[in-house]
Amino acid sequence: MTHIITLIPGDGIGQEVIPAARAVLETLNLPLQFREAKAGFGVFQTYGTALPDETLEQCATSDAILFGATSSPMTKVTGYYSPILALRQHFDLFANLRPVRADAIDVLTVRENTEGLYSGRERTEDDGQTAIAERVITARASERIMRVACEQAMRRRRYVTIVHKANVLKETDGLFRRVAFEVARDFPALTVDELLVDVAALKLVEDPARFDVIVTTNVFGDILSDVAAGLTGGLGLAASANIGGQPPALFEPVHGSAPDITGQGIADPRAAILSAAMMLDHLGYAAEAARLHQITYQTPHTGDTQYTVEAICARLESDSDA
Ligand code: IPM
Ligand code: MN
Repeated sequence: MTHIITLIPGDGIGQEVIPAARAVLETLNLPLQFREAKAGFGVFQTYGTALPDETLEQCATSDAILFGATSSPMTKVTGYYSPILALRQHFDLFANLRPVRADAIDVLTVRENTEGLYSGRERTEDDGQTAIAERVITARASERIMRVACEQAMRRRRYVTIVHKANVLKETDGLFRRVAFEVARDFPALTVDELLVDVAALKLVEDPARFDVIVTTNVFGDILSDVAAGLTGGLGLAASANIGGQPPALFEPVHGSAPDITGQGIADPRAAILSAAMMLDHLGYAAEAARLHQITYQTPHTGDTQYTVEAICARLESDSDA
């Protein structure tokens, strides 16, 4: 069976790392069929939409999406909405899996991806002098994200840390915490504990090896996953999966569009390639995914995108001859 993959390079170095990941995937000779689609701020400036209908239709009929990056402006631009957030919402990709590894550190952040402070409920009052964001937490979303975290932990070191700020956010994180512990009862083989998010940040830096799976709400997961990436070689190796109840799942490097280095051919393609490895695993190519993951980790990036890609492809090929 052929798997259909939609590639969305997006903005900035997305245009460099997604073709790099494609080249590596093609070396594996798997039954994958690639399509390219447009999204991003550049597309918005040309077509007036950051996520054209055509792109959504292509994604809807795909098994997976490999997404590069988009640059989102810091200020409000009328009509613009981040296409990655739109894709997560549209396909209900509620679980954002962000693994990092280095030496003794092996942490998976499981970030809720559809609500919290990203619910889109922001407004101003008082003639623009007061700004309000609603932090939406539902039992349904808390339940399903905790379930994913527990299932992941069962394949790992069987330890989940629930991260929240329920001492202050008594209603929202109170609900998240309560539901998470309820779900934990269905997984008696797991050790489950909890940390306040500030303490979790401290412990991540002080003693990252203590963590296995971290499960948390949207913004806390956004921030903590960057901290975890920073501890393990930076964003150059930080991959992620956005998964919902059905296809397409979406895979993307955690780094952004990096306008400062765009067009120089120096971007580290490994986070995109590791995201492609997560995609292969999700599509059922477990052995190829593990091999690609291992080779990518063993290949240093010395500052030339093309050179790193060729080194990874060469290792994949010599490996398959062996
Ligand atoms: C990420 C990014 C996005 C997010 C941005 C680009 C909207 O930071 O995937 O971590 O905040 O989720
Ligand atoms: Mn982020």
